[in-house]
Amino acid sequence: MQNVYISTPIYYVNDSPHIGHAYTNIVSDVLARFMKLRGNKVFVSTGTDEHGQKIEKTAKALNMHPQELAEAKSNDFRQIAELLNFKYNAFIRTTSEEHKKSALALWNILDKKEEIYLSEYEGWYSIRDESFYREQDLVNGLAPTGAPVEWLKEQSYFFKLSKWQDKLLEMYSSSQQIISPKSKQNEVISFIKSELRDLSISRSGFSWGISVPNDKNHVMYVWIEALSNYLTSTGFPNVESDLYQSYWSQDSMKIHVIGKDILKFHAVYWPAFLMAANLPIYDQIIAHGWWTNCGQKISKSLGNTINPFDLVSKFGVDRVRYFLMKEIPFGEDGDFSEEKLTQKVTTDLSNNIGNLVQRVSSMIHKECNGAIPMSISTSLLPNAELEFNTYTKFMNEYEFHRALELPIKLSSRANELINASAPWSLAKTNRQEMQNILYTCSEYIRIIGMLLQPFIPSSSEMILDQIGLNKNSRSFNSITDSLHAGIQIPIPRPIFPR
Ligand code: MSP
Repeated sequence: MQNVYISTPIYYVNDSPHIGHAYTNIVSDVLARFMKLRGNKVFVSTGTDEHGQKIEKTAKALNMHPQELAEAKSNDFRQIAELLNFKYNAFIRTTSEEHKKSALALWNILDKKEEIYLSEYEGWYSIRDESFYREQDLVNGLAPTGAPVEWLKEQSYFFKLSKWQDKLLEMYSSSQQIISPKSKQNEVISFIKSELRDLSISRSGFSWGISVPNDKNHVMYVWIEALSNYLTSTGFPNVESDLYQSYWSQDSMKIHVIGKDILKFHAVYWPAFLMAANLPIYDQIIAHGWWTNCGQKISKSLGNTINPFDLVSKFGVDRVRYFLMKEIPFGEDGDFSEEKLTQKVTTDLSNNIGNLVQRVSSMIHKECNGAIPMSISTSLLPNAELEFNTYTKFMNEYEFHRALELPIKLSSRANELINASAPWSLAKTNRQEMQNILYTCSEYIRIIGMLLQPFIPSSSEMILDQIGLNKNSRSFNSITDSLHAGIQIPIPRPIFPR
């Protein structure tokens, strides 16, 4: 089984965690848990992006030292990860010594390979986006993102990006899809074809960054610095380390989870840096869409940001995770509202799955002394292998919302089976048939709980505990096993109380 490296973007510390950050974390976590359950060794990397003009400016406005701001916000990002049950292996802070070492090492390799030269940058820059723009990119004098831009004219180091145009096109034209959704890969290809100018990779005139080697007048452009965090987390520049060899070698599967707004940086600049430095390139970029709040673009100035801390304390972590993953096809934009969340989780989780688990385990207690009954018929049993193969296909294609439809559909089927067969009546007329039904439904619950594990880890653990499934039988290679009759199950307690 291949080793897998999964990263989230590192979050700017000028802002507090919001629903967009929460979503990126959850997507990465779902993917990581899915792969671990399948048997892969997985390394997950996240962190905070703490340098650059935007952070310096925000800190100044708050009358703080940028380091102080970084400390505080970085802690918030750690906390939200924990609250969301997002499990990571590395949390990179770009102001750390290890990161400085790694970013400088990358710069030095590029410099040694003569991929960097000193010249002058003249053009538009947006501090909010930390991005350079061409005249033709602007829309009514603003960046295409709506961010203000300013005219810059300063000495700058450049990376020979234009030189890598053909190699980048070659990479994206190969038969394998690298960027998901596919439409985004086409966007990237057109961007690369349009005009790839050399990229300014240093800034002067402010100091909050990593100094360029041997030139104190420049700090590294925040994006070249930030992108190198993906190497930092694998122990770079120590390329002999186990960590690097296991997770950033040619053999590992390297996946970057990002929002669509930062695709250019990841899909154009980053592979060019890696190619130029002769380092392995990632295998996949998966780019998600944007969340709006009740139809409105989320922004600090509109004051309509959605605070994930509040959401989790109001609804519980698994309801939030479930809604965000189920509500929209991955890659598309989504609209958030608490009403929609409430409605969706009530219908799918409480009324459907929660109800099934409650009914079945209560009846097992009432009629079978709390032990999984013996069944003599297999005709009604769900086909675990078939369901799992479909689920895996969706997960491999990052169609999370479709993967999630399967446990919901299975639960509806099991509830219908109960309604149609009325085991409470069978208890008086045909006990063997009642046992068949209860066993069959417990098997349904087993498969439902197993498929839900990457998405709602705590609740699925409760579901699987409820039918007495051994902890060792919960990874996906046990999906085709079946429940043993006679196992005692705990007293039912509501899994998704309304
Ligand atoms: N620091 C850079 C990333 C550097 S990675 C080498 C950055 N940080 S960010 O904090 O501004 O954004 C982090 C992530 O949050 C991005 O993937 C972005 O797409 C995502 N989101 C920010 N607002 C969002 C929504 N409203 N909806 C969904 N995701 C959004 O960019």
